[in-house]
Amino acid sequence: MSRTITILGLESSCDDTAAAVVRHRPGHDPEILSSVVAGQTELHSAYGGVVPEIAARAHTEKLDLCVEEALEAAGLRLPDLDAIAVTAGPGLVGGVLAGVMTAKGLAVATGLPLVGVNHLAGHALTPRLTDGTSFPYLMLLVSGGHCQFLIAHGPDRFTRLGGTIDDAPGEAFDKTARLLGLPQPGGPSVEVEARAGDPKRFRLPRPLLDRPGCDMSFSGLKTALLRERDKLVTAQGGITVKDRADLCAGFQAAVADVLAEKASRAIAEYLALSPTVPVIAVAGGVAANSAIRAALETVSAENGVGFVAPPLALCTDNAAMIAWAGIEKFRSGDTDDMTLAARPRWPLDQSAAPMLGFGKKGAKA
Ligand code: KG4
Ligand code: ZN
Repeated sequence: MSRTITILGLESSCDDTAAAVVRHRPGHDPEILSSVVAGQTELHSAYGGVVPEIAARAHTEKLDLCVEEALEAAGLRLPDLDAIAVTAGPGLVGGVLAGVMTAKGLAVATGLPLVGVNHLAGHALTPRLTDGTSFPYLMLLVSGGHCQFLIAHGPDRFTRLGGTIDDAPGEAFDKTARLLGLPQPGGPSVEVEARAGDPKRFRLPRPLLDRPGCDMSFSGLKTALLRERDKLVTAQGGITVKDRADLCAGFQAAVADVLAEKASRAIAEYLALSPTVPVIAVAGGVAANSAIRAALETVSAENGVGFVAPPLALCTDNAAMIAWAGIEKFRSGDTDDMTLAARPRWPLDQSAAPMLGFGKKGAKA
């Protein structure tokens, strides 16, 4: 199918309600005509995590409004579209269901084709939307809910090389911030504190580096940090500003070291495929961390692999990535019908062993 395609994408699998319109003319860069994201942070802030029922209700209230806004910003009406794409999983099922039902309603009302998209495929295909990256490329998803290395061979073909067996790194940053009395989301607050800290004062563990492969673990790191904090509290009755900065720096250095070492192993597996233009791409909120990003860039450069980091707004949850993944799927002639189901779990690599970790934002694979 080589004609111009314009797709509306919907995303509601976690705590962001999003709608976007993306257009692709073959031979040209894809265009994001609009991308609307309505966050829910304040609705969940009192609970220390995303409350699935509150999230689902908020998605139900906001989806129509986001669609209207996205169409208006794109200067289009529903009949101008070629298809409706929607996240059909994995994620918090109430929210996914809200999106799938909205998309089905729009598809029935307009007669447009429906395309169910895997949320992780949305993240994993983003480098093609932003940088035109060619298959096969290596992908690291690092956020509050995801952490895995994937080789993207095609729009619907991924090999999972490894991932976290417990917490996602963003989740560990958020818990660390909570343990140290810093505001949420924890990643940015820990990063700011870490700038003034000594990463060597507290030697926190580098979990699973002694084991082969690309699997990772981050929950023990946070427990080790808790132990160091409690030792200080017992010895001196509390922690100083300097202690806090050093703990943050030590924690961030440990996460960066683990991700860099596992990335170098993933790169070795990937390079065995002899890609013509080798590339590692990152997505997810944690990719915003400059120490982690620098560590990954160093590993990529050492191995002669290009480094692609899409703009942050397209690294975190959004609907432009769903519309784009929808375009890739639609072009290959793959559409869904009214039996499309909302799936809480939906691994990208069906042949990989199921992941044990769930993440604070729900099961992600
Ligand atoms: O991709 P994202 O917006 O949402 C999902 O989790 O799906 O990622 C949010 C996560 C949060 O856990 C947040 O603390 C973390 O990304 N994060 C960071 C930074 N900015 C956001 N972690 C470390 N350093 C940062 N600068
Ligand atoms: Zn996501």
